[in-house]
Amino acid sequence: MRRVTVALPERPYDVVVGRGAIAGLAPFVDQAVRRVAVVTQDAIPERFTDVARHLADRDVAVEVHAIGDGEAAKTLSTVEELSRSFARSGLTRRDLVVGVGGGVVTDVAGFAASTWHRGVSVVHVPTTLLGMVDAAIGGKTGVNLAEGKNLVGAFWQPSAVVCDLDALDTLPERELRCGLGEMAKYHFLTGDDLLATDLEERIARCVEIKAEVVASDEREGGRRALLNYGHTLAHALEIATDHRLAHGEAVAIGLVFAAELALELGRIGRHRVDEHVAVVQGEYDLGIRPPAGCDPDVLVDLMRRDKKALDGLTFVLDGAAGVEVVEGVDEAAVRAALARFLS
Ligand code: GLY
Repeated sequence: MRRVTVALPERPYDVVVGRGAIAGLAPFVDQAVRRVAVVTQDAIPERFTDVARHLADRDVAVEVHAIGDGEAAKTLSTVEELSRSFARSGLTRRDLVVGVGGGVVTDVAGFAASTWHRGVSVVHVPTTLLGMVDAAIGGKTGVNLAEGKNLVGAFWQPSAVVCDLDALDTLPERELRCGLGEMAKYHFLTGDDLLATDLEERIARCVEIKAEVVASDEREGGRRALLNYGHTLAHALEIATDHRLAHGEAVAIGLVFAAELALELGRIGRHRVDEHVAVVQGEYDLGIRPPAGCDPDVLVDLMRRDKKALDGLTFVLDGAAGVEVVEGVDEAAVRAALARFLS
């Protein structure tokens, strides 16, 4: 079992990574807690959602609240329904929300926790690779609007994150690929050869990389935006394809596009683009081209609405000084790179 601390100055918390980690949940539930609201989905195996079993010797009432599947469930109306369930079960400010599931669950559970009685503690139990290496760590919570992904949300740090690797044994292949998309991102941020290590070490290392960035810039005043490498096009593709392209798949494509754009802007050479292709496609075995029929005008429009964009089109781009946030990227360059990329 590995333990990584997200060393936030005022609210440090632990992320445990290992097989059977869920059995160690109890110490993360404060003695004052009397009710636990488990937020999950019907498809999540009971051995992870049955939080009551892991708190059997504690005087707590556990209620399970299932939300819908997929990005379509990441809405304000889901948060309203959840909050009304919390009200009916008498959840108080000293109680606890536990999010058990993938990124959709932990994003929604975290956001509901952030607003319930103006903030109640949340523990995340991510059951997908993407959740373990990214979504459940760092306190970004939120829901989508028709106009864009994650446009409504809050920074609300969990009090602990429990990554039970047993959950990955039954994870559908496509879900695993999505996690690999985010892992490939860490490859470019650090140069680490993550695939050379075993699963526990690999996940713990991703958590460590993310924890270090989050601890240095919790609210994305600057450096944390690096974690969005590949995400500008990715978010646009997810919306343009009506989420037929899953987040991690879109990130994989977005990483290669970010390299193409960096080439267009003269920030890197062709060999570095080839390196992106070799890592994303060759090593991580992920798709690197958008599905046919994506309209460049729609993509540019969506990218302009990206949350990072404070000044026109904003991308995280590779360059001589490494990966950095670049604001006000020339639209003509974006269109040129996109035309090449979509052809
Ligand atoms: N997923 C990017 C972040 O948490 O900042």
